[in-house]
Amino acid sequence: MSQPNGGTFDIVILGAGSGGYAAALRAAELNLSVALIDKAELGGTCLHRGCIPTKALLHAAEIADQTRESEQFGVKADLVGIDMAGVNSYKDGVVARLYKGLQGLLKQDKITVVAGAGKLVGRDTVEVDGKRYTGRNVILATGSYSRSLPGLEVDGRRVLTSEHALKLDRVPSSAIVLGGGVIGVEFASVWKSFGADVTILEALPRLVAAEDEEISKAVERAFRKRKINFKVGKPFEKVEYTENGVQATIAGGETVEAEILLVAVGRGPTTKDLGYEQAGVTLDRGFVITNERLHTGVGNIYAVGDIVPGLQLAHRGFAQGIFVAEEIAGLSPAVIDEAGIPRVTYSDPEVASVGITEAKAKEKYGADRVTTYNYNLGGNGKSQILKTQGFVKLVRVNDGPVVGVHMVGARMGELVSEAQLIYNWEAFPEEVAQLVHAHPTQGEALGEAHLALAGKPLHAHS
Ligand code: NAI
Repeated sequence: MSQPNGGTFDIVILGAGSGGYAAALRAAELNLSVALIDKAELGGTCLHRGCIPTKALLHAAEIADQTRESEQFGVKADLVGIDMAGVNSYKDGVVARLYKGLQGLLKQDKITVVAGAGKLVGRDTVEVDGKRYTGRNVILATGSYSRSLPGLEVDGRRVLTSEHALKLDRVPSSAIVLGGGVIGVEFASVWKSFGADVTILEALPRLVAAEDEEISKAVERAFRKRKINFKVGKPFEKVEYTENGVQATIAGGETVEAEILLVAVGRGPTTKDLGYEQAGVTLDRGFVITNERLHTGVGNIYAVGDIVPGLQLAHRGFAQGIFVAEEIAGLSPAVIDEAGIPRVTYSDPEVASVGITEAKAKEKYGADRVTTYNYNLGGNGKSQILKTQGFVKLVRVNDGPVVGVHMVGARMGELVSEAQLIYNWEAFPEEVAQLVHAHPTQGEALGEAHLALAGKPLHAHS
Protein backbone atom coordinates (compact mmCIF):
# COMPACT_ATOMS: atom_id res chain seq x y z
CA MET A 1 0.00 0.00 0.00
CA SER A 2 1.45 3.35 -0.93
CA GLN A 3 2.10 5.87 1.82
CA PRO A 4 0.61 9.37 1.88
CA ASN A 5 2.73 11.72 -0.14
CA GLY A 6 4.63 14.52 1.60
CA GLY A 7 5.74 15.84 -1.75
CA THR A 8 8.67 15.77 -4.12
CA PHE A 9 11.60 18.14 -3.68
CA ASP A 10 14.94 18.84 -5.31
CA ILE A 11 16.53 17.97 -1.97
CA VAL A 12 15.27 16.14 1.09
CA ILE A 13 17.53 16.75 4.08
CA LEU A 14 17.41 14.50 7.12
CA GLY A 15 18.66 16.47 10.12
CA ALA A 16 18.46 20.23 10.69
CA GLY A 17 21.70 20.82 12.58
CA SER A 18 24.59 22.92 11.31
CA GLY A 19 25.21 20.72 8.25
CA GLY A 20 21.58 20.16 7.34
CA TYR A 21 20.29 23.69 7.72
CA ALA A 22 23.30 25.21 5.94
CA ALA A 23 22.60 22.90 2.99
CA ALA A 24 18.94 23.95 3.07
CA LEU A 25 19.70 27.68 3.10
CA ARG A 26 22.27 27.47 0.30
CA ALA A 27 20.01 25.24 -1.79
CA ALA A 28 17.16 27.71 -1.44
CA GLU A 29 19.45 30.53 -2.56
CA LEU A 30 20.11 28.43 -5.63
CA ASN A 31 16.36 28.10 -6.27
CA LEU A 32 16.17 24.44 -5.31
CA SER A 33 13.13 23.20 -3.41
CA VAL A 34 13.97 21.74 -0.01
CA ALA A 35 12.32 19.62 2.67
CA LEU A 36 14.24 19.84 5.95
CA ILE A 37 13.34 17.14 8.44
CA ASP A 38 14.15 17.02 12.14
CA LYS A 39 12.64 15.35 15.17
CA ALA A 40 13.97 18.01 17.57
CA GLU A 41 14.61 21.74 17.45
CA LEU A 42 16.01 23.30 14.29
CA GLY A 43 19.65 24.13 14.82
CA GLY A 44 20.71 20.81 16.28
CA THR A 45 23.40 20.10 18.81
CA CYS A 46 25.55 23.16 18.21
CA LEU A 47 22.82 25.70 18.81
CA HIS A 48 20.87 23.94 21.55
CA ARG A 49 23.24 21.55 23.32
CA GLY A 50 26.76 22.36 22.15
CA CYS A 51 28.77 25.29 20.86
CA ILE A 52 26.46 28.14 21.74
CA PRO A 53 25.35 27.30 25.30
CA THR A 54 28.83 26.11 26.30
CA LYS A 55 30.41 29.30 25.06
CA ALA A 56 27.86 31.28 27.05
CA LEU A 57 28.92 29.34 30.15
CA LEU A 58 32.55 30.02 29.33
CA HIS A 59 31.84 33.72 29.02
CA ALA A 60 30.13 33.76 32.41
CA ALA A 61 33.17 31.88 33.74
CA GLU A 62 35.47 34.56 32.35
CA ILE A 63 33.45 37.24 34.10
CA ALA A 64 33.70 35.31 37.36
CA ASP A 65 37.48 35.12 37.00
CA GLN A 66 37.77 38.77 36.06
CA THR A 67 35.72 39.76 39.09
CA ARG A 68 37.83 37.56 41.34
CA GLU A 69 41.04 38.97 39.91
CA SER A 70 39.89 42.54 39.39
CA GLU A 71 42.25 43.92 41.97
CA GLN A 72 45.18 43.16 39.68
CA PHE A 73 43.80 45.94 37.51
CA GLY A 74 43.15 48.31 40.37
CA VAL A 75 39.43 47.65 40.38
CA LYS A 76 37.87 46.62 43.66
CA ALA A 77 35.11 44.04 43.39
CA ASP A 78 34.05 40.99 45.34
CA LEU A 79 32.78 37.84 43.74
CA VAL A 80 29.78 37.12 45.90
CA GLY A 81 28.84 33.92 44.14
CA ILE A 82 27.55 32.21 41.04
CA ASP A 83 23.80 32.27 40.59
CA MET A 84 23.32 29.30 38.28
CA ALA A 85 19.71 30.25 37.61
CA GLY A 86 20.97 33.62 36.39
CA VAL A 87 23.76 32.05 34.34
CA ASN A 88 21.31 29.59 32.79
CA SER A 89 18.79 32.25 31.93
CA TYR A 90 21.52 34.32 30.22
CA LYS A 91 22.68 31.20 28.32
CA ASP A 92 19.14 30.16 27.37
CA GLY A 93 18.38 33.71 26.23
CA VAL A 94 21.30 33.61 23.79
CA VAL A 95 20.14 30.27 22.42
CA ALA A 96 16.52 31.45 22.15
CA ARG A 97 17.45 34.55 20.15
CA LEU A 98 19.60 32.60 17.71
CA TYR A 99 16.91 29.91 17.43
CA LYS A 100 14.32 32.50 16.53
CA GLY A 101 16.69 33.99 13.99
CA LEU A 102 17.27 30.61 12.38
CA GLN A 103 13.55 29.88 12.16
CA GLY A 104 13.13 33.24 10.45
CA LEU A 105 15.86 32.48 7.93
CA LEU A 106 14.33 29.14 6.99
CA LYS A 107 10.91 30.72 6.63
CA GLN A 108 12.24 33.58 4.57
CA ASP A 109 13.80 31.06 2.19
CA LYS A 110 10.52 29.11 1.92
CA ILE A 111 12.07 25.89 3.11
CA THR A 112 9.55 23.17 3.96
CA VAL A 113 10.32 22.23 7.53
CA VAL A 114 9.02 18.83 8.60
CA ALA A 115 8.88 18.11 12.33
CA GLY A 116 9.26 14.42 13.11
CA ALA A 117 11.62 11.47 13.12
CA GLY A 118 12.61 10.57 9.57
CA LYS A 119 13.87 7.31 8.17
CA LEU A 120 15.42 6.57 4.81
CA VAL A 121 13.09 4.07 3.16
CA GLY A 122 14.58 4.09 -0.32
CA ARG A 123 17.33 5.79 -2.28
CA ASP A 124 15.25 8.90 -2.77
CA THR A 125 12.67 8.74 -0.01
CA VAL A 126 12.48 9.69 3.65
CA GLU A 127 9.46 8.69 5.67
CA VAL A 128 8.20 10.77 8.58
CA ASP A 129 5.20 9.59 10.58
CA GLY A 130 3.95 7.52 7.66
CA LYS A 131 4.33 10.33 5.13
CA ARG A 132 6.84 10.00 2.32
CA TYR A 133 9.07 12.81 1.14
CA THR A 134 10.78 12.18 -2.16
CA GLY A 135 13.99 13.93 -3.12
CA ARG A 136 15.75 14.09 -6.44
CA ASN A 137 18.66 14.30 -3.99
CA VAL A 138 18.91 13.27 -0.35
CA ILE A 139 21.32 14.69 2.22
CA LEU A 140 21.96 12.73 5.41
CA ALA A 141 22.81 15.11 8.25
CA THR A 142 21.78 13.35 11.44
CA GLY A 143 24.70 14.48 13.58
CA SER A 144 26.15 12.88 16.68
CA TYR A 145 25.50 11.95 20.30
CA SER A 146 27.65 11.88 23.45
CA ARG A 147 29.41 8.56 23.63
CA SER A 148 29.95 6.65 26.85
CA LEU A 149 32.21 3.71 27.68
CA PRO A 150 31.27 0.06 28.19
CA GLY A 151 30.06 -0.42 31.75
CA LEU A 152 29.75 3.30 32.38
CA GLU A 153 26.12 4.11 32.93
CA VAL A 154 25.07 7.71 32.44
CA ASP A 155 22.26 8.48 34.89
CA GLY A 156 22.09 12.22 34.26
CA ARG A 157 22.42 12.99 37.98
CA ARG A 158 25.86 11.93 39.11
CA VAL A 159 27.26 10.64 35.85
CA LEU A 160 26.54 13.20 33.17
CA THR A 161 27.07 13.91 29.51
CA SER A 162 27.60 17.47 28.30
CA GLU A 163 23.84 17.73 27.64
CA HIS A 164 23.15 17.18 31.34
CA ALA A 165 26.06 19.37 32.39
CA LEU A 166 24.60 22.27 30.41
CA LYS A 167 21.40 22.02 32.43
CA LEU A 168 22.92 21.80 35.91
CA ASP A 169 21.07 24.05 38.31
CA ARG A 170 24.02 24.32 40.69
CA VAL A 171 27.79 24.56 40.69
CA PRO A 172 29.08 21.17 41.80
CA SER A 173 31.46 21.28 44.75
CA SER A 174 33.70 18.90 42.85
CA ALA A 175 33.74 17.24 39.46
CA ILE A 176 35.62 14.50 37.67
CA VAL A 177 35.91 15.13 33.97
CA LEU A 178 36.46 11.94 32.04
CA GLY A 179 38.32 12.83 28.84
CA GLY A 180 40.76 15.68 28.35
CA GLY A 181 39.64 16.54 24.82
CA VAL A 182 37.72 19.63 23.77
CA ILE A 183 34.55 19.12 25.81
CA GLY A 184 36.46 17.95 28.88
CA VAL A 185 38.84 20.87 28.91
CA GLU A 186 36.08 23.43 28.32
CA PHE A 187 33.86 22.14 31.14
CA ALA A 188 36.82 21.77 33.49
CA SER A 189 37.63 25.40 32.79
CA VAL A 190 34.05 26.58 33.43
CA TRP A 191 33.56 24.65 36.65
CA LYS A 192 36.92 25.73 38.06
CA SER A 193 36.08 29.36 37.33
CA PHE A 194 32.74 28.84 39.07
CA GLY A 195 34.56 27.53 42.15
CA ALA A 196 34.45 23.73 41.82
CA ASP A 197 37.32 21.39 42.54
CA VAL A 198 38.02 19.69 39.19
CA THR A 199 40.03 16.63 38.13
CA ILE A 200 40.41 15.58 34.50
CA LEU A 201 41.18 11.94 33.68
CA GLU A 202 42.70 11.42 30.25
CA ALA A 203 43.92 8.14 28.76
CA LEU A 204 46.32 9.70 26.29
CA PRO A 205 49.62 11.17 27.51
CA ARG A 206 48.41 14.79 27.26
CA LEU A 207 45.42 17.10 27.39
CA VAL A 208 43.98 18.32 24.06
CA ALA A 209 45.98 15.53 22.44
CA ALA A 210 44.90 16.40 18.91
CA GLU A 211 46.76 19.72 19.17
CA ASP A 212 50.46 20.42 18.67
CA GLU A 213 52.43 18.98 21.59
CA GLU A 214 53.74 22.36 22.75
CA ILE A 215 50.18 23.65 22.95
CA SER A 216 49.19 20.74 25.20
CA LYS A 217 52.14 21.52 27.45
CA ALA A 218 51.09 25.17 27.69
CA VAL A 219 47.49 24.23 28.54
CA GLU A 220 48.73 21.82 31.19
CA ARG A 221 51.00 24.50 32.66
CA ALA A 222 48.14 26.98 32.76
CA PHE A 223 45.77 24.42 34.29
CA ARG A 224 48.33 23.58 36.98
CA LYS A 225 48.49 27.27 37.79
CA ARG A 226 44.70 27.42 37.92
CA LYS A 227 44.75 24.37 40.22
CA ILE A 228 42.76 22.25 37.81
CA ASN A 229 43.90 18.71 38.56
CA PHE A 230 44.53 16.27 35.76
CA LYS A 231 45.85 12.76 35.39
CA VAL A 232 47.04 11.78 31.93
CA GLY A 233 48.28 8.56 30.38
CA LYS A 234 46.00 6.22 32.27
CA PRO A 235 42.67 5.01 30.96
CA PHE A 236 39.61 5.12 33.09
CA GLU A 237 38.54 1.78 34.55
CA LYS A 238 35.31 2.19 36.46
CA VAL A 239 33.05 4.47 38.39
CA GLU A 240 31.19 3.61 41.58
CA TYR A 241 28.58 5.52 43.50
CA THR A 242 29.56 6.75 46.96
CA GLU A 243 27.31 8.17 49.62
CA ASN A 244 27.48 11.69 48.22
CA GLY A 245 28.81 11.27 44.74
CA VAL A 246 31.07 9.08 42.66
CA GLN A 247 34.46 7.46 42.78
CA ALA A 248 36.39 6.85 39.60
CA THR A 249 39.23 4.37 39.27
CA ILE A 250 41.94 4.66 36.64
CA ALA A 251 44.39 2.02 35.40
CA GLY A 252 46.79 1.15 38.21
CA GLY A 253 44.08 1.43 40.82
CA GLU A 254 44.29 5.14 41.69
CA THR A 255 40.92 6.61 42.66
CA VAL A 256 39.36 10.06 42.58
CA GLU A 257 36.15 11.10 44.31
CA ALA A 258 33.79 13.90 43.43
CA GLU A 259 30.18 14.99 43.48
CA ILE A 260 29.67 14.36 39.77
CA LEU A 261 31.43 12.82 36.80
CA LEU A 262 31.21 14.25 33.29
CA VAL A 263 31.70 11.79 30.46
CA ALA A 264 33.51 13.54 27.61
CA VAL A 265 35.09 10.71 25.65
CA GLY A 266 33.97 11.72 22.20
CA ARG A 267 30.81 11.83 20.13
CA GLY A 268 29.43 8.97 18.07
CA PRO A 269 27.54 9.30 14.75
CA THR A 270 23.73 9.13 14.88
CA THR A 271 23.12 6.63 12.09
CA LYS A 272 21.52 3.63 13.78
CA ASP A 273 18.12 2.37 12.64
CA LEU A 274 17.73 5.16 10.12
CA GLY A 275 17.62 2.90 7.08
CA TYR A 276 21.02 3.99 5.80
CA GLU A 277 22.53 0.53 5.43
CA GLN A 278 19.34 -0.89 3.94
CA ALA A 279 19.54 1.79 1.25
CA GLY A 280 23.08 0.59 0.48
CA VAL A 281 25.01 3.36 2.23
CA THR A 282 28.36 2.16 3.63
CA LEU A 283 28.88 2.64 7.36
CA ASP A 284 32.20 2.26 9.16
CA ARG A 285 31.82 2.09 12.95
CA GLY A 286 28.61 3.98 12.43
CA PHE A 287 30.12 6.78 10.32
CA VAL A 288 28.85 7.32 6.79
CA ILE A 289 31.57 6.79 4.23
CA THR A 290 31.61 9.31 1.37
CA ASN A 291 34.03 10.35 -1.32
CA GLU A 292 35.74 13.75 -1.06
CA ARG A 293 32.69 15.30 -2.70
CA LEU A 294 30.55 13.96 0.16
CA HIS A 295 28.66 11.54 -2.09
CA THR A 296 27.84 8.18 -0.52
CA GLY A 297 28.18 6.25 -3.76
CA VAL A 298 24.48 5.37 -3.64
CA GLY A 299 21.96 7.08 -5.92
CA ASN A 300 21.92 10.81 -5.23
CA ILE A 301 22.57 10.44 -1.52
CA TYR A 302 25.09 12.76 0.14
CA ALA A 303 26.16 13.08 3.78
CA VAL A 304 27.42 16.07 5.78
CA GLY A 305 28.49 16.96 9.31
CA ASP A 306 29.37 14.79 12.29
CA ILE A 307 28.27 11.53 10.62
CA VAL A 308 31.10 11.92 8.10
CA PRO A 309 34.48 10.89 9.58
CA GLY A 310 36.68 13.88 10.42
CA LEU A 311 36.48 16.95 12.62
CA GLN A 312 33.13 17.16 14.39
CA LEU A 313 32.78 20.91 14.20
CA ALA A 314 29.76 23.05 13.41
CA HIS A 315 31.60 25.22 10.91
CA ARG A 316 32.75 22.10 9.06
CA GLY A 317 29.08 21.15 8.91
CA PHE A 318 28.18 24.59 7.52
CA ALA A 319 30.91 24.31 4.89
CA GLN A 320 29.92 20.78 3.90
CA GLY A 321 26.23 21.72 3.72
CA ILE A 322 27.01 24.64 1.41
CA PHE A 323 29.32 22.41 -0.61
CA VAL A 324 26.68 19.73 -1.22
CA ALA A 325 23.97 22.25 -2.11
CA GLU A 326 26.32 23.77 -4.69
CA GLU A 327 27.35 20.35 -5.95
CA ILE A 328 23.71 19.42 -6.50
CA ALA A 329 23.13 22.73 -8.28
CA GLY A 330 25.99 21.86 -10.64
CA LEU A 331 28.40 24.55 -9.44
CA SER A 332 31.30 22.09 -8.92
CA PRO A 333 32.60 23.69 -5.70
CA ALA A 334 36.22 23.17 -4.61
CA VAL A 335 36.79 20.21 -2.30
CA ILE A 336 37.11 21.23 1.37
CA ASP A 337 40.60 20.85 2.83
CA GLU A 338 40.02 19.30 6.24
CA ALA A 339 43.30 20.70 7.60
CA GLY A 340 42.19 24.19 6.56
CA ILE A 341 39.25 24.09 8.96
CA PRO A 342 40.06 26.21 12.02
CA ARG A 343 39.80 24.64 15.47
CA VAL A 344 39.20 26.49 18.71
CA THR A 345 38.96 25.24 22.28
CA TYR A 346 37.35 28.00 24.33
CA SER A 347 38.86 27.15 27.70
CA ASP A 348 41.01 29.53 29.72
CA PRO A 349 43.54 29.66 28.15
CA GLU A 350 42.03 29.42 24.69
CA VAL A 351 43.57 27.18 22.07
CA ALA A 352 43.24 27.89 18.37
CA SER A 353 44.85 26.19 15.43
CA VAL A 354 44.68 25.62 11.70
CA GLY A 355 46.79 23.49 9.38
CA ILE A 356 49.04 20.73 10.63
CA THR A 357 51.16 20.25 13.76
CA GLU A 358 54.94 20.38 13.81
CA ALA A 359 55.08 16.59 14.17
CA LYS A 360 52.80 16.04 11.17
CA ALA A 361 54.69 18.57 9.07
CA LYS A 362 57.98 16.81 9.79
CA GLU A 363 56.41 13.51 8.87
CA LYS A 364 55.00 14.93 5.66
CA TYR A 365 57.86 17.12 4.45
CA GLY A 366 60.90 15.72 6.32
CA ALA A 367 62.34 17.17 9.54
CA ASP A 368 65.03 19.18 7.74
CA ARG A 369 62.50 20.92 5.51
CA VAL A 370 60.38 22.32 8.34
CA THR A 371 61.03 25.41 10.47
CA THR A 372 58.96 26.49 13.45
CA TYR A 373 58.83 29.71 15.39
CA ASN A 374 57.14 30.53 18.68
CA TYR A 375 56.23 34.14 19.34
CA ASN A 376 55.71 34.59 23.05
CA LEU A 377 52.74 36.76 24.05
CA GLY A 378 55.12 38.31 26.61
CA GLY A 379 56.20 40.64 23.79
CA ASN A 380 52.65 41.54 22.77
CA GLY A 381 51.31 44.74 24.28
CA LYS A 382 47.62 43.85 24.27
CA SER A 383 48.29 40.44 25.82
CA GLN A 384 50.25 42.16 28.58
CA ILE A 385 47.34 44.52 29.14
CA LEU A 386 45.07 41.49 29.47
CA LYS A 387 47.70 39.77 31.66
CA THR A 388 47.60 36.64 29.59
CA GLN A 389 50.39 34.25 28.75
CA GLY A 390 50.89 31.99 25.78
CA PHE A 391 52.34 32.01 22.30
CA VAL A 392 51.72 31.85 18.59
CA LYS A 393 53.55 29.00 16.92
CA LEU A 394 54.15 28.89 13.20
CA VAL A 395 55.12 25.82 11.23
CA ARG A 396 56.50 26.53 7.77
CA VAL A 397 58.03 24.53 4.96
CA ASN A 398 61.48 25.98 4.23
CA ASP A 399 61.25 28.35 1.28
CA GLY A 400 57.56 27.50 1.26
CA PRO A 401 54.27 28.41 2.89
CA VAL A 402 53.03 28.35 6.46
CA VAL A 403 51.42 24.94 6.96
CA GLY A 404 50.40 25.25 10.60
CA VAL A 405 49.43 28.00 13.04
CA HIS A 406 48.98 27.02 16.70
CA MET A 407 48.02 29.50 19.38
CA VAL A 408 47.39 29.45 23.10
CA GLY A 409 46.37 32.32 25.40
CA ALA A 410 43.37 34.48 26.19
CA ARG A 411 41.18 35.34 23.18
CA MET A 412 43.35 33.43 20.71
CA GLY A 413 40.19 32.05 19.10
CA GLU A 414 39.60 35.41 17.45
CA LEU A 415 43.02 35.26 15.79
CA VAL A 416 42.20 32.06 13.98
CA SER A 417 40.34 34.02 11.31
CA GLU A 418 43.59 35.53 10.09
CA ALA A 419 45.50 32.32 10.69
CA GLN A 420 43.14 30.39 8.44
CA LEU A 421 43.56 32.91 5.63
CA ILE A 422 47.31 32.51 5.94
CA TYR A 423 47.09 28.73 5.81
CA ASN A 424 44.40 28.43 3.16
CA TRP A 425 46.00 31.01 0.85
CA GLU A 426 49.30 29.18 1.30
CA ALA A 427 50.99 32.39 2.34
CA PHE A 428 54.75 32.60 2.83
CA PRO A 429 55.94 34.27 6.06
CA GLU A 430 57.61 36.92 3.90
CA GLU A 431 54.21 37.83 2.42
CA VAL A 432 52.42 38.04 5.75
CA ALA A 433 55.33 40.10 7.09
CA GLN A 434 54.42 42.84 4.60
CA LEU A 435 50.95 43.23 6.10
CA VAL A 436 50.56 45.85 8.81
CA HIS A 437 48.86 44.77 12.01
CA ALA A 438 47.13 47.32 14.25
CA HIS A 439 48.90 48.19 17.49
CA PRO A 440 48.14 47.25 20.19
CA THR A 441 46.15 44.15 19.24
CA GLN A 442 46.71 40.49 19.93
CA GLY A 443 46.65 40.02 16.16
CA GLU A 444 50.03 41.69 16.15
CA ALA A 445 51.43 38.53 17.68
CA LEU A 446 50.64 36.77 14.41
CA GLY A 447 52.28 39.59 12.46
CA GLU A 448 55.34 39.52 14.70
CA ALA A 449 55.70 35.76 14.36
CA HIS A 450 55.76 36.11 10.59
CA LEU A 451 58.19 39.03 10.77
CA ALA A 452 60.50 36.85 12.82
CA LEU A 453 60.23 33.90 10.44
CA ALA A 454 60.90 36.25 7.54
CA GLY A 455 64.16 37.17 9.25
CA LYS A 456 63.17 40.62 10.48
CA PRO A 457 61.87 40.33 14.04
CA LEU A 458 60.60 43.45 15.80
CA HIS A 459 59.48 42.86 19.39
CA ALA A 460 60.94 39.36 19.61
CA HIS A 461 63.17 38.31 22.48
CA SER A 462 65.37 35.40 21.55
P1 NAI B 1 37.47 14.43 22.00
O1 NAI B 1 37.70 13.35 21.00
O2 NAI B 1 37.95 15.80 21.74
O3 NAI B 1 38.11 13.99 23.40
C1 NAI B 1 37.79 12.81 24.05
C2 NAI B 1 38.94 12.45 24.95
O4 NAI B 1 38.55 11.36 25.80
C3 NAI B 1 40.18 12.01 24.18
O5 NAI B 1 41.28 12.80 24.55
C4 NAI B 1 40.31 10.55 24.57
O6 NAI B 1 41.66 10.13 24.64
C5 NAI B 1 39.66 10.52 25.94
N1 NAI B 1 39.24 9.17 26.33
C6 NAI B 1 38.58 8.26 25.58
N2 NAI B 1 38.42 7.10 26.27
C7 NAI B 1 38.95 7.30 27.49
C8 NAI B 1 39.10 6.49 28.65
N3 NAI B 1 38.65 5.24 28.69
N4 NAI B 1 39.71 7.02 29.74
C9 NAI B 1 40.19 8.29 29.71
N5 NAI B 1 40.08 9.09 28.63
C10 NAI B 1 39.48 8.61 27.54
O7 NAI B 1 35.90 14.39 22.28
P2 NAI B 1 34.98 15.35 23.16
O8 NAI B 1 35.81 16.27 23.99
O9 NAI B 1 34.01 14.47 23.83
O10 NAI B 1 34.26 16.21 22.07
C11 NAI B 1 33.45 15.58 21.09
C12 NAI B 1 33.47 16.35 19.80
O11 NAI B 1 32.82 17.59 19.93
C13 NAI B 1 34.87 16.62 19.34
O12 NAI B 1 35.03 16.15 18.04
C14 NAI B 1 35.02 18.08 19.39
O13 NAI B 1 35.79 18.57 18.32
C15 NAI B 1 33.61 18.61 19.36
N6 NAI B 1 33.57 19.81 20.20
C16 NAI B 1 34.13 20.95 19.72
C17 NAI B 1 34.20 22.07 20.49
C18 NAI B 1 34.88 23.27 19.95
O14 NAI B 1 35.15 23.34 18.78
N7 NAI B 1 35.22 24.25 20.78
C19 NAI B 1 33.66 22.09 21.84
C20 NAI B 1 33.16 20.83 22.28
C21 NAI B 1 33.12 19.74 21.46
